[in-house]
Amino acid sequence: MKTAVFSARRYDQALFTKANSAFGHELRFIGDRLTPDTVHLAAGCSAVCVFVNDQVDAEVLALLAAQGTGVVATRSTGFNHIDTVAAAALNIPVVRVTDYSPHSVAEFAVGLLLTLNRKIARASTRTREGNFELDGLMGFDLYGKTVGIIGTGKIGNVFAKIMQGFGCTLLGHDAFPNPLFEQLGGRYVDMDELVAASHVISLHCPLTPDTHHIVGRSLLAKLRRGAILINTSRGGLVDTEAAIEFLKTGQLGGLAIDVYEQEASLFFQDLSSTIITDDVIQRLVSFPNVVVTGHQAFLTEEAIGQIVQTTLESITAFERGQPLVNRVLGSL
Ligand code: NAI
Repeated sequence: MKTAVFSARRYDQALFTKANSAFGHELRFIGDRLTPDTVHLAAGCSAVCVFVNDQVDAEVLALLAAQGTGVVATRSTGFNHIDTVAAAALNIPVVRVTDYSPHSVAEFAVGLLLTLNRKIARASTRTREGNFELDGLMGFDLYGKTVGIIGTGKIGNVFAKIMQGFGCTLLGHDAFPNPLFEQLGGRYVDMDELVAASHVISLHCPLTPDTHHIVGRSLLAKLRRGAILINTSRGGLVDTEAAIEFLKTGQLGGLAIDVYEQEASLFFQDLSSTIITDDVIQRLVSFPNVVVTGHQAFLTEEAIGQIVQTTLESITAFERGQPLVNRVLGSL
């Protein structure tokens, strides 16, 4: 099936091309994001494959439908970037990748926590410059500390298991409690208790209207003083300007993010030779107790291999009129 693959990076092209030898789809790789300005690049493609910062709103979906696109496949678990109601109205099913290595994201969240708490990136920068001074590199033991996990699904539970291995006390908050979390020794509490008790909070819930800015001024004001916040889920979960205010007062002791609410115009590109006009991200990266990465938590061989395989299988199923097992509920 003719498939336009938007936001295609070199690793996407290499892995899709290799795996596609077993499927035989006609893949058209497009480096640009899908937007109203680039949608014409998918002309003639029955399938369109997108990533997290592609614009798949009602306007773009209508343009895709007019060009003959019949299915949208996102190379992600989250689908907050897709207007699934508009897709359903246009008779376009949306498929995603529900099951790919939750370890990739959970392990990265732990990496961010260690990098932030033990100042590993800062220390590495210093030693490259011949500075072996230790002042400013003090962290705290994770052993015996309380870790609050918001969203205890696939990724949240793997994160919980790793933190249990560190000897942490686990608190959880979830709209749908998961018995696996309690089997790990975790305890579900309300948000206020989690926020007040946790030395570390990690976000692993999806971005929905209910969770937008779940970390805002009112939650930040209730934090245990000096708590660390990790966000590998979606940028829109955190009110970044509020987080900056609380970093300045020390109420928020550190912030490590792999996702950022305004990331669409920044991430997945080399902007090192340009002037970045987003003052919020520029302010954030100036803090010594902030770590920012560019949405790479999923980037392991295992995870990408599964993403590519599942995406190609979904497109094949659509082509053959078979059931779409990875269809987003709420879309067709
Ligand atoms: P999942 O669906 O297995 O788990 C999500 C959990 O969040 C569920 O237990 C759900 O009940 C809970 N939840 C939903 N609404 C909630 C609310 N209002 N409050 C508290 N909990 C709530 O999803 P999975 O696979 O664990 O992924 C979690 C998120 O991680 C995804 O939605 C996505 O945004 C993000 N992600 C980020 C990646 C990255 O590269 N940075 C890669 C993959 C996923």
